[in-house]
Amino acid sequence: MLDSCQRNITYLRLSVTELCNLRCRYCMPEEGVCKKRHEDMLTQEEMLLAVRVCASLGICKVRITGGEPLVKPNILSLCRETAATEGIEELCLTTNGTLLPKVAQLLKEAGVDRLNISLDTLDEAKYRHITRGGELAEAMEGIHAALDARFRKIKINTVLIGGFNVEEIAALAELTRQFPVDVRFIELMPIGNSREFGPEAYVPNTVVLEKLPELEALPADGSVARLYRLPGARGNIGLISPVSAHFCATCNRIRITADGKVKPCLHSSDEISIKGMNEEQMRETIKTAILEKPQWHGELSYYEPSHAARNMNQIGG
Ligand code: GTP
Ligand code: 5AD
Ligand code: SF4
Repeated sequence: MLDSCQRNITYLRLSVTELCNLRCRYCMPEEGVCKKRHEDMLTQEEMLLAVRVCASLGICKVRITGGEPLVKPNILSLCRETAATEGIEELCLTTNGTLLPKVAQLLKEAGVDRLNISLDTLDEAKYRHITRGGELAEAMEGIHAALDARFRKIKINTVLIGGFNVEEIAALAELTRQFPVDVRFIELMPIGNSREFGPEAYVPNTVVLEKLPELEALPADGSVARLYRLPGARGNIGLISPVSAHFCATCNRIRITADGKVKPCLHSSDEISIKGMNEEQMRETIKTAILEKPQWHGELSYYEPSHAARNMNQIGG
């Protein structure tokens, strides 16, 4: 359906858990999350009801996010049922990749079309640092398992952090020559835990164009990334610039959190609960949330942080 700014809302980001097996410094506190009461989180039935209601309102793409969606024990049936929902044409999932070796093929069979996998560095020690204890080898095995399972598309998400991985831009971009994957450089967003990084960490991703002058621009594909390609590469390079060039005017998404809050905008503090609702109540509430989606979220910078009152792991990106 159209929101009040005539944007067609067709994309639902459904966060299925706040929990994660990693602790990325820009996303989560070191101690992890304070586990909420089971009865405060959406049940699988409620998540699937929300997907059905959203589909009836014109949503045709669902992205499952987290925390880390693959730590959720019922993730395969959730994917299978979501993919089978009338009106849902595309099912995607965003993951840190480390748990993919066991489930990549099963996710494909459950109906997941595309995977986005987070990878901020190719250096073992730096990976351990940024994820607070993760193993690079596990993430790389995950990427290989995803390639073997032949998803329609695999995108690598790299959060660009000044003083951490800017010198690795070329090496990360090289992945698009080695494998049929896209690599997208995402500007660090000042939200929740990422506020602990200093101003120097917030670099505009035009730095990618400076480091890789050989990039050739490609036409837009309707996603939030501006697209480029290295000569001879098998996949694209994407620049996602939520800070230096926000994309609110063409935003087509709403979010639902694992504790049952509809978020019309990532960076707004507005949340509307659907926990415990029947189908009709949910439809009215989600419609209202879409109509109340703000035109834009206001300035975003180190000095003007997000209004979202959550860490990223409680929203799902
Ligand atoms: P595609 O379906 O492949 O286009 O994926 P996506 O970019 O929508 O999803 P993904 O989970 O891979 O997110 C990539 C990055 O974009 C993450 O850092 C998200 O936080 C960020 N992002 C996604 N949606 C929005 C949005 O509406 N606003 C802002 N500011 N950032 C977003
Ligand atoms: N800024 C930008 N991207 C972020 N992500 C998590 N936290 C942030 C942040 N503060 C990314 C993850 C994942 C995607 C869903 O969001 O790396 O790829
Ligand atoms: Fe986990 Fe992803 Fe957050 Fe890292 S960014 S802690 S992998 S949810």
